[in-house]
Amino acid sequence: MINLGVLISGRGSNLQAIIDSAEAGQIPAKVAVVISNRSDAFGLERAKKHNIPAVVFEPEKFKDKNTYELEIVKTLKQRKVELVCLAGYMRIVGGVLLEHYQGRMINIHPALLPAFPGLHVQKAALDHGVKVSGATVHFVDAGCDTGPIIVQAAVPVFESDTEETLSARILEQEHKIYPLAIKLFAEGKIKIQGRRVVIK
Ligand code: GRF
Repeated sequence: MINLGVLISGRGSNLQAIIDSAEAGQIPAKVAVVISNRSDAFGLERAKKHNIPAVVFEPEKFKDKNTYELEIVKTLKQRKVELVCLAGYMRIVGGVLLEHYQGRMINIHPALLPAFPGLHVQKAALDHGVKVSGATVHFVDAGCDTGPIIVQAAVPVFESDTEETLSARILEQEHKIYPLAIKLFAEGKIKIQGRRVVIK
């Protein structure tokens, strides 16, 4: 059983999927703490409902990014977090978090990376005219959505799709592959070999 720290900025539907899988005993992990950079993130309510400690650190209130991230690291260490899960955390991770958690920090992205990194990716996928898109869970490195890929799931893109319908189809997959990636990590089945993630 490993302790997870989940970092959020908003809705928290991926957080919910992780909590539900943990509570159902489907993954050998438990959410030890939820950290949000916004006090109005709905994910905070979800944490409270499940009696999970939740804290807010607003970056604007800190001297600089390093001081802000040190506070996060302190909390993660206090809660004995072994895997950090970014779940709709809308900030670029800096040197302090990477220094402490690189290789133990993962993210979910609503596209088939390396296609469409960054923001507004479902719109970018539609505008580009792709016929397939999907979701990716990957390790976090210093780049934006560039780290080694752990799991991906593909969905079809239809001509009738809007940003909303495509996002919903992708989100359904996110809620499956995020717990799956956590399970693989918690079971010690993941090995990073350069850019590649090998699943034992
Ligand atoms: C998801 O689409 C995730 O892939 C992206 O941000 C969104 C967060 O949604 N990084 P939620 O807060 O988990 O509902």
